Amino acid sequence: MECEGHGTAEHDLSEPMPQWNADQPPTTGLLVQIKSLRDRIRALSSGEGAEETEGVLQALDRVDQAAHLVVCEHAGMADELLGLYDQLGAVFDITRQLPTVMDEPQVKALFARTMTATYNRHLVAFAQPGAGGWQLESLGGDVARLQGSRWVAEFLDRVAAQEIVVVEPSDGPTRKDGIVEVLAAPVVCHGELIMVALVVRDARGDELRAADMNLADVLCAYCADLIANFRLHHQLRQVSVDLVRSLVATVDQKDPYTSGHSIRVGFYATQLGRDLGLNREELQMLEWSALLHDVGKIGIRDEVLKKPGKLTEEEFAHIKEHPVRSYEVVRRVPQLAGALDGIRHHHERFDGSGYPDGLAGRNIPLQARIVQVADIFDALTSSRSYRTAFDWRKAINIIEDEAGTTVDPELAAVFARFIRGRCEGKSDEAWQALFGEAEAMLLKEPEDAAKKDATEV
Ligand SMILES: [Fe+2]
Ligand SMILES: [Fe+2]
Repeated sequence: MECEGHGTAEHDLSEPMPQWNADQPPTTGLLVQIKSLRDRIRALSSGEGAEETEGVLQALDRVDQAAHLVVCEHAGMADELLGLYDQLGAVFDITRQLPTVMDEPQVKALFARTMTATYNRHLVAFAQPGAGGWQLESLGGDVARLQGSRWVAEFLDRVAAQEIVVVEPSDGPTRKDGIVEVLAAPVVCHGELIMVALVVRDARGDELRAADMNLADVLCAYCADLIANFRLHHQLRQVSVDLVRSLVATVDQKDPYTSGHSIRVGFYATQLGRDLGLNREELQMLEWSALLHDVGKIGIRDEVLKKPGKLTEEEFAHIKEHPVRSYEVVRRVPQLAGALDGIRHHHERFDGSGYPDGLAGRNIPLQARIVQVADIFDALTSSRSYRTAFDWRKAINIIEDEAGTTVDPELAAVFARFIRGRCEGKSDEAWQALFGEAEAMLLKEPEDAAKKDATEV
């Protein structure tokens, strides 16, 4: 905002005093009033009595200068307020979209979208450090001239991990690129440079102000915090996963025939849950539930667990204790409360003849009905002490035959569609690949159905 200058022109006494204008800021109006009054007095004093009015004029000049300063300060304050408003708007925008953000790349993408929208009158680019130098990207902007600019590369090297800066290139060749000014804001997470956001002003662009630097600073800090949170979350999850993996391996090793069983059940169950449209949190709990469903077998006597022949009534009753034993182990961990249904009820049957509680139909929690289908499928397609593994086709046929008696018919149909979709009409390698994918599933973050749909669009 430009400030009103000090005028000294003679004022026509017949002209009325200017009135306050509703569209004009009052401070600016004050300047006009003072200027007008001073001009009138100066005009009056041009004749007789000039000496008497000199003191009044000097006092008015001082008032005028003070008022002028006030107007300029107001203009600065208005700029500052607008800058704060922009910061709030951008931060609010990011916060509003946070529930849709699942991982670090999505944080970066959200940051890039917000920066690009905020500085929409400039070219916004993002530089990522790589083995071969800086990789520049932009959402729709032309970064070719930046990519080829020696000055930009050198500038980025200097900016890396340093404080946010605005630099006007002074060398001739850069000006030929049309770059007048560059604001560079690094995103630094725990000392690691993640990327540098560049706001590039060409000759037609608005001058970059202090408020623009502040805004970029706030957005970069927010982005770095979010990335730090996701990394921490990932590390904590990895610790939990490693702990569960060793616990599950201990159980599976009790019986070499069931080695890898829990991990594969976790994979099949989350695939089925995904096809049923479960959200991310439900999938996460389903995964834990499936992984830990047989953990209670650790308390089952070895000679019963590994017995190749028919079990006695007492032995069968003992083995049937394992869902409740699993439940008793896992319920000590409050964070896994959402996984308990599938653990306790994975041996219930749809017709009500299962155990431990004899639940039937939809009274069996959905999580348990899902784990049950995955559990049966893996048991059928794995070798046991009393038989070799069934072919996947036979296993699916058996599950379909059991629809309505053992398993939920709707879930049986969805699962059969998933397995056939992956393996039907393909060589046995497709089945082997699926089996291998199942064993590697613990390394992955769960995806919910909404994310799957978004990815596939
Ligand atoms: Fe079981
Ligand atoms: Fe099982």
